[in-house]
Amino acid sequence: MESSLPLTIDRSADLPLHLQLAEQFRAAILDGRLQAGHRLASTRDLARELSVSRSVTQAAYDQLHAEGWIEGRTGAGTFVTDVVPLQPAVRRHAPTKPATEPQLLTLRPGIPYIAPTPDPGWRRAWREVSTQSPAPGYDDAAGLPALRAALADHVGRVRGIACGPENVLITNGTVHGLRLLLAVTRKPGDRIAIEDPGYLNAVVAARHYGLEIVDVPVDEDGLRVSALTDVPAVYVTPSHQYPLGGRLPVARRNELIRWARRTGALLIEDDYDSEFRYDVAPLPALAQLDLDRVVHLGTLSKTISPALRLGWLVASEQMIDRLATFRAESGDWPGWPMQAALLAMLRDGYLDQSIRRSRRLYADRRVHTCTVLSPYGQIIGQDAGLHITLLLPDTVDDVKVAAAARAAGVVIAPLSEYRRSTSGPPGLVIGYATPSTKDLHKALNILTQVLDVSRR
Ligand SMILES: Cc1ncc(COP(=O)(O)O)c(C=O)c1O
Repeated sequence: MESSLPLTIDRSADLPLHLQLAEQFRAAILDGRLQAGHRLASTRDLARELSVSRSVTQAAYDQLHAEGWIEGRTGAGTFVTDVVPLQPAVRRHAPTKPATEPQLLTLRPGIPYIAPTPDPGWRRAWREVSTQSPAPGYDDAAGLPALRAALADHVGRVRGIACGPENVLITNGTVHGLRLLLAVTRKPGDRIAIEDPGYLNAVVAARHYGLEIVDVPVDEDGLRVSALTDVPAVYVTPSHQYPLGGRLPVARRNELIRWARRTGALLIEDDYDSEFRYDVAPLPALAQLDLDRVVHLGTLSKTISPALRLGWLVASEQMIDRLATFRAESGDWPGWPMQAALLAMLRDGYLDQSIRRSRRLYADRRVHTCTVLSPYGQIIGQDAGLHITLLLPDTVDDVKVAAAARAAGVVIAPLSEYRRSTSGPPGLVIGYATPSTKDLHKALNILTQVLDVSRR
């Protein structure tokens, strides 16, 4: 039997022959040339007619069969099914961006320096993972048991938090941990206090879960605990207030814990860059003071790389059980290779070594940044972390300065971007970690020229 369709084959086209055939059959069924119930030529006859191999016609029929256009009836042949033709959705292509986006230098805070070539510790960990199969416990919703134990040791050693593996849950970073916590412990309409100015991703997360945000003012020491009202949860960055950079003094930490015990509120401690502090004594983590009232969020995003998407949440055992139960149903936990690599990095001391190396690098950059920018305003928050804040005279518009810096090739964050309802001086939040040292110098040079113009 011959095909009733005028089929063509183009051997010079990129599209494989079987797909060319399938496309022509599909078009004929859609426009009614082939009606439901129509019997098609056998793959053998069709192959002979078109001078192609039978595997081509068979593959074309297999494709049409898989898509539901045709069906085989035993002993009778292959027939067009009774499909309701569906107009394919029109795929619109986004307009392509101009290829000549200028190369911008960045002084935005948030991202650490990532060396272009990975070092031996990093390579060793991934090599080790590549030679293993997932170990038992890879599907534990709280995280790999061995990794939870290693992280309990780590936070005990570097943050003084007395805890065991039962208090640790592995996350995809701070924001992931925060979102999980809010999903499990909050209801839409609940109130949550967040520092103002503060971390915008925390605000976005709280809004996502329908929470009412209560703005709490901060000063150069961090959260103003005395300004807290009746709220059931507080998000706070005590080790380096984001973005102003205050380190919450011990007396205020104690006051905050006392307040939480009195009111029953939950404190969410974002410990995002506590590993970096310069010439100042460490301060106790809030979680060290009371793990029943505090959920502590740690991350590798500042110490190794945000590309890993890994972090940890430390809390009471009951809280970890609640979160893990929720997560067991969503399957939303970091994959085994990531967790196994982190375990190898912790075991080999790679994390500690990276922190030591970065600390030395950032210490020099911090001094340079402060030296270059101090003539332009008051620098705050320089004792810790990976950024400083430059407070500018009231007459300066920080958004305009950021726009002018961008036009000159440097991306920078205006302080007013982080403010919600509280007011304060204008400023610039300057991350000195991301660029290479050479690019940092270049970017600061450009920024000072922009600041010189803004003062005229
Ligand atoms: C205040 C604050 N917390 C946490 C993080 C890190 O978030 P994640 O661990 O989700 O990458 C950042 C990164 O910029 C931050 O600025």
